[in-house]
Amino acid sequence: MTTAYLNGAFLPLGEAQVSVMDRGFLFGDGVYEVIPVYGGRLFRLAHHLKRLQNSLDAVRIANPMSENGWADMLAELVARNTGSDQAVYLQVTRGTAPKRDHAFPADIHPTVFAMSTPAAAPRDSAAEQGIKAVTLPDIRWQHCNIKAITLLPNVLLRQQAIEADTAEAILIKDGCAIEGAASNLFIVSHGLLITPPNGPALLPGITRDLILELAAGNGIPYCEAEIPTADLLGADEIWLTSSTREISPVIQLDDTAISGGKPGPLWQRMIGLYQDYTAAVRRGGAS
Ligand code: PDD
Repeated sequence: MTTAYLNGAFLPLGEAQVSVMDRGFLFGDGVYEVIPVYGGRLFRLAHHLKRLQNSLDAVRIANPMSENGWADMLAELVARNTGSDQAVYLQVTRGTAPKRDHAFPADIHPTVFAMSTPAAAPRDSAAEQGIKAVTLPDIRWQHCNIKAITLLPNVLLRQQAIEADTAEAILIKDGCAIEGAASNLFIVSHGLLITPPNGPALLPGITRDLILELAAGNGIPYCEAEIPTADLLGADEIWLTSSTREISPVIQLDDTAISGGKPGPLWQRMIGLYQDYTAAVRRGGAS
């Protein structure tokens, strides 16, 4: 049975309930995080809490908990759930108000919800064999750096990708590839690893940042630069990264095979480095 956390109490997930007047329900007025857990340890917790703070600041919700408060609550949530590899979902909404009004209510307390579910196997067969992706126009708003729960465009884009018999949509805006519907984008071109620079157009991914750190620490040439659509289509390798999918190699984009229709050599190297890192997290030797 999954245990959840809601506004100060741990309880069975099925018993966790919020009011229909919660602004998360009525307006999508809230932010969230997804944090992987390896060997019972929260992965890159400080980075996730920093991004949560940035999202809260951007939407003007006061952080309802201190950093230590979050760390203690999430550690207890993980301990109360089964399995050493989990995925924590947390969300903070502006809270519940007596009437529906777009403007912020004067006296309102954020709703805090968290749950943790068993993680999918880190390297499943899809990751081994690679995934298919499709390019679609980026129909989202101008603040994609905020991890907002308002995900309707992302939901529609991911669904369109699934209905095209692919696993993810790569979003195109002003002639450049930006990121996936729920993942960041990397390409490999002539030995250079490239990912778009952080900014309002995309989510500053925690997995993305770790990959750049691993590249820097292991002599892999990389840069943060715009990826024109032509460069995406001509890439030697394409990867999509997130807390839940880790690093997925794309082996087919639209109707074109990428890296000969199999995961490429730099992906093989990077997934090894990534797995060494998660193994260190499991041992308590990294965070
Ligand atoms: N999504 N870009 C978008 C739009 C995302 O939704 C995500 C993650 C990422 C990757 O970020 P990170 O490496 O920090 O997980 C990039 C999560 C997993 C989700 O919505 O479930």
